[in-house]
Amino acid sequence: MSDEENETFAHAMVMSNSFVVTMVLKAAVELDVFKIIDEAGHGGQVSTKEIASRLPTNNPNASCLLDRMLHLLTNHSFLSCTLHGLENGMIERLYGLGPESKFYLEDGQGGSLASMPFIDAHRATWDAWNCLKDSVLEGGIPFSKAFGMSGYQYACSDPILNVHFHQAMSGYTILFMKKLLEIYKGFEGINTVDVGVEKGQHSTLSSTCVEHIAGSLFERVPHGDAILLKLILHNWDDEDCVKILKNCYNALPEAGKVIIIDGLMLEGADTSFQSKYITHLDLSMFTVLGGKEGSEREFAAFAKAAGYSNYRLASCAYCSCVVELFK
Ligand SMILES: C[S@@+](CC[C@H](N)C(=O)[O-])C[C@H]1O[C@@H](n2cnc3c(N)ncnc32)[C@H](O)[C@@H]1O
Repeated sequence: MSDEENETFAHAMVMSNSFVVTMVLKAAVELDVFKIIDEAGHGGQVSTKEIASRLPTNNPNASCLLDRMLHLLTNHSFLSCTLHGLENGMIERLYGLGPESKFYLEDGQGGSLASMPFIDAHRATWDAWNCLKDSVLEGGIPFSKAFGMSGYQYACSDPILNVHFHQAMSGYTILFMKKLLEIYKGFEGINTVDVGVEKGQHSTLSSTCVEHIAGSLFERVPHGDAILLKLILHNWDDEDCVKILKNCYNALPEAGKVIIIDGLMLEGADTSFQSKYITHLDLSMFTVLGGKEGSEREFAAFAKAAGYSNYRLASCAYCSCVVELFK
């Protein structure tokens, strides 16, 4: 059997239980593993015995179990690892941070992806995913099929999930806006209102250049030179996206613009992590809320249907794009 065939088989198996990565990542965050390794200093590596000694446990097997978890994360390039020979002829692995794990550490300003696995691993999310096949056959949104209410209504009734959701949105926003503002200058010199934001959800970084206003986008959109829709349109189906954009149109002055920030779906086949991530996000939005990630062609169609004269793809950062719609 060729190495290639073996790898293809292994890939097929890994895809069947890729949830294992989510769950191990979540447990690593809960145990502060990335933080403990980070405290070893830049490029530092630590054994799982050292990590276990920092945890509130007397479990004699903690270090062995941690080693198995961190070995898995190493093989997903979250961690680096070197082998250290022991006197008894065995080895121990020493772990350092890999490039991906830096996103799971707090960046000093509240930016981090650490709360993301808590949403993906939540029982309610799983119950909704288990209805995906029914949505194909019968229509409807998986989350509503499982719970009889939307993902947002459910989150309001589950305080722990709600906290994780807000932390995940804020942590992500701080990371993302920091990167975006390095390259995108479209907020400068204009009064931008940020709509579709709950109290405590937005980052202090983005609040330095935009105003945040509460209220339903389907009822009234506040006035501003520009209206920011960040991670809003991907929550809704095409018809609702056009409704929201029409309400924004009516709230804008003649020279106004809408700034959409969302994932950008590429239309063709693409095996990059970016495209994988956007297709994952696309189906996650569908499963929980009935939403979708738009392609450039779809954003252009929304713009036209809502009456805008023009649009442009203005910038991209961390897999999300900025699309500006002009009145
Ligand atoms: C994915 S979050 C994005 C939040 C924020 N814009 C950000 O980028 O961090 C979507 C937000 O839309 C809000 N939302 C849901 N339905 C809404 C509605 N009808 N009008 C306004 N906001 C709504 C939710 O409460 C949630 O805060």
